[in-house]
Amino acid sequence: MAATTLRSLTIAAAAAAVATFTSPTSATLTGPRCPSRFAWENIQLTSQSLAKQDAALFGFGNAHLDPPQPRCKSFPGDPSWPSDATWSRFNATLGGALIKTVPLAAPCYRHRPEYDPAACQRVREAWSTPRLHVDDPSSAMFPLYQGRTCMPTEDPDAGNCTLGGYATYSVRAENARQVQLAVNFARNANLRLVVKNTGHDFADKSVGAGALSVWTRGLNDVRFWRDYSCGGYRGPAFKLGSGVLTEDVYKAAEENGVTVVGGECRTVGIAGGFIAGGGHSPVSSLVGMGADQVLSMEVVLPDGRFVTVNETSYPDLFWALRGAGGGTYGVVTSITIRAYPRIPVTTMSFVYATNPNVTADTFFAGLGAYMKYFDKFTAAGAYGYFLVVGIGPGQYLFSMMPFWANNMTKAEVTALVTPYLDDLANLGIQVTPNITEYSSLFQAYQGSFGPETVGATDSHAASRLFPRENFRGARLNATLAAVRHAIEGGGILIGYNIRAAPNPNANQYNSVNPAWRKAAAFFILGAAWPAGASDAQIQQASKTLTTDWMEKWRAVTPGSGTYLSEADINEPDFQRSFYGEYYPRLYALKKKYDPKGVFYAPTGVGSEDWYVTNQKKWIPTQNGRLCRRR
Ligand SMILES: Cc1cc2nc3c(=O)[nH]c(=O)nc-3n(C[C@H](O)[C@H](O)[C@H](O)COP(=O)(O)OP(=O)(O)OC[C@H]3O[C@@H](n4cnc5c(N)ncnc54)[C@H](O)[C@@H]3O)c2cc1C
Ligand SMILES: *[C@@H]1O[C@H](CO)[C@@H](O)[C@H](O)[C@H]1NC(C)=O
Ligand SMILES: *[C@@H]1O[C@H](CO)[C@@H](O)[C@H](O)[C@H]1NC(C)=O
Ligand SMILES: *[C@@H]1O[C@H](CO)[C@@H](O)[C@H](O)[C@H]1NC(C)=O
Ligand SMILES: *[C@@H]1O[C@H](CO)[C@@H](O)[C@H](O)[C@H]1NC(C)=O
Ligand SMILES: *[C@@H]1O[C@H](CO)[C@@H](O)[C@H](O)[C@H]1NC(C)=O
Ligand SMILES: *[C@@H]1O[C@H](CO)[C@@H](O)[C@H](O)[C@H]1NC(C)=O
Ligand SMILES: *[C@@H]1O[C@H](CO)[C@@H](O)[C@H](O)[C@H]1NC(C)=O
Repeated sequence: MAATTLRSLTIAAAAAAVATFTSPTSATLTGPRCPSRFAWENIQLTSQSLAKQDAALFGFGNAHLDPPQPRCKSFPGDPSWPSDATWSRFNATLGGALIKTVPLAAPCYRHRPEYDPAACQRVREAWSTPRLHVDDPSSAMFPLYQGRTCMPTEDPDAGNCTLGGYATYSVRAENARQVQLAVNFARNANLRLVVKNTGHDFADKSVGAGALSVWTRGLNDVRFWRDYSCGGYRGPAFKLGSGVLTEDVYKAAEENGVTVVGGECRTVGIAGGFIAGGGHSPVSSLVGMGADQVLSMEVVLPDGRFVTVNETSYPDLFWALRGAGGGTYGVVTSITIRAYPRIPVTTMSFVYATNPNVTADTFFAGLGAYMKYFDKFTAAGAYGYFLVVGIGPGQYLFSMMPFWANNMTKAEVTALVTPYLDDLANLGIQVTPNITEYSSLFQAYQGSFGPETVGATDSHAASRLFPRENFRGARLNATLAAVRHAIEGGGILIGYNIRAAPNPNANQYNSVNPAWRKAAAFFILGAAWPAGASDAQIQQASKTLTTDWMEKWRAVTPGSGTYLSEADINEPDFQRSFYGEYYPRLYALKKKYDPKGVFYAPTGVGSEDWYVTNQKKWIPTQNGRLCRRR
């Protein structure tokens, strides 16, 4: 295709964009007003705005007229794979937003055209920091499931750097129209589609070999209304683009004297996968889950249409998009969430370990002493984030990092935790609690949570939600025994004493795993292996985690499940575990809104209808062709 043709197509696209641009929303900070769209959400695709010859490639879907899709998605090298000219045309129609994937660590490999030792050095230094992956169009933070096909390395001749599970192309989305074009092109050309925001997902749900990726990170506006009013809600609210990071929202909340429900990690996409999967927060024990706070959403559906989703508009999707996981029903471009008045937060941290006076039995009795108060602490609105890990043969460490008391003073916290600390003392466990008062969530968060480490391939995580009953009477002993078994076997416990607080002021009619509503704890369990371990060792460790340690956890929590956003990619019966009794309803909605399977995410709703070729037991990757099971 001639360059001039491309240029004129770009101009046509820009003109079309301007034509559909209605008046931008006002920046007024006081309401009352129902949700308005961001200016870039008014840049939309319409049938009329498409050149006639482009309709087949980029036009909207029609479930009744579209031809049946082949068994497998098109893959690079297939005769059906779009030609370079078609990709160029797509790029032009997008206004130049198409990116061809270059793996982040490509500069480390001599055989790559990107080879550049200095650039490699920078990638190696930053590889374990989330930000590197957040700001890359295709990278994700768990390379194990990408296939480890381009890891950073000191040795430029160590091997080959290939795309592996990374998407082939990405669309750097800056308006609704580009998202619509990507969804339409993927559907019409039978391409695998993935949605990548920050790449935090534990199962690498934001990567896929041979895929076209929609990169939403650029949709990062934040708007605040002190007095928002719509439907039944009146009060402070934020409208957030789906690429906004938690830390940016926390800062905006601080500046405006309010509290928002966000997670503990700085760079998770609060309006992307966080809310889509439910979203647990240090304030969840007080006001509920992230997904409970949503007032309205803007969404590009699998047929390419751009719609508002709320209690009255697509109410079934409003239910499904708040809890059942990202990358399944459409691409969310923004959400509106309620905010709460500023609350003070008091934290407490301490560490203890086995020592000559604290045997392993005493150590675990100390853990049991904490568990006994789980229900009481969460009922008081508090949250606890802690670590239990082996530090040598028969030696263990407990770190409270921190106990987080919402809306409480130091005196109130001291009164709350004294019985627990007394129990520890009676066991002979000496701790020196550091209790600190903060004026807001933001201040406490700054003082409590350090940067996360990601990008490693030396561990694998699984998780479980533990119901309140597990921490009472004889069940507490059984629970403690199951937890101890995993830790003694070498497991690393990242524990959350948390509940999804009932909150009549929030909207808790959503698809958040019902197991959350009964839980007093969420435990993540890691299995680690030595650096340079063979695949056989990784497989063995993963198998032990899933079928031994976790099997005991499942046995003591019958009917419960886990949090799909921080879960085991190998979880048996994931439908039951991640979605509980909502699964049949979620599956029916998947068939209703995405009958062609435009969206696929590993362990997502409806994912059992598909498989990825080229798999190794216990180390699933997205490095293969996506095909439908027949
Ligand atoms: C270090 C770390 C700390 C974490 N801490 C917490 C925590 O405190 N609380 C908590 O609840 N979770 C936590 N998580 C889990 C986190 O919430 C999930 O991984 C979440 O899915 C990340 O969403 P994302 O958009 O940032 O990431 P991505 O990996 O880019 O996306 C996650 C999933 O959502 C989909 N998705 C993203 N954006 C969109 C969109 N706009 N429309 C449709 N689908 C979309 C993707 O396709 C993918 O399937 C943590 C994860 C890590 C790695
Ligand atoms: C898309 O177009 C832009 C602007 O012309 C260009 O910079 C970019 O390299 C193109 N992308 C691809 C994949 O060709
Ligand atoms: C790199 O790729 C080439 C060509 O595909 C292959 O011959 C070679 O064995 C590969 N090297 C490694 C270390 O995988
Ligand atoms: C829901 O969306 C519809 C359609 O855009 C809008 O008219 C209505 O005001 C919205 N209601 C809420 C509560 O956001
Ligand atoms: C163990 O207990 C003894 C006697 O109470 C005490 O002197 C000693 O300091 C303790 N050791 C540790 C490591 O706490
Ligand atoms: C915080 O505590 C104050 C005073 O006890 C109370 O009025 C307020 O509702 C609480 N805030 C939240 C979000 O629970
Ligand atoms: C207590 O914790 C705060 C917040 O993390 C920290 O700034 C302070 O240095 C700690 N104090 C002690 C004595 O460790
Ligand atoms: C729990 O176990 C401890 C010792 O491991 C025992 O003393 C206690 O009686 C048990 N409690 C119940 C309720 O079974």
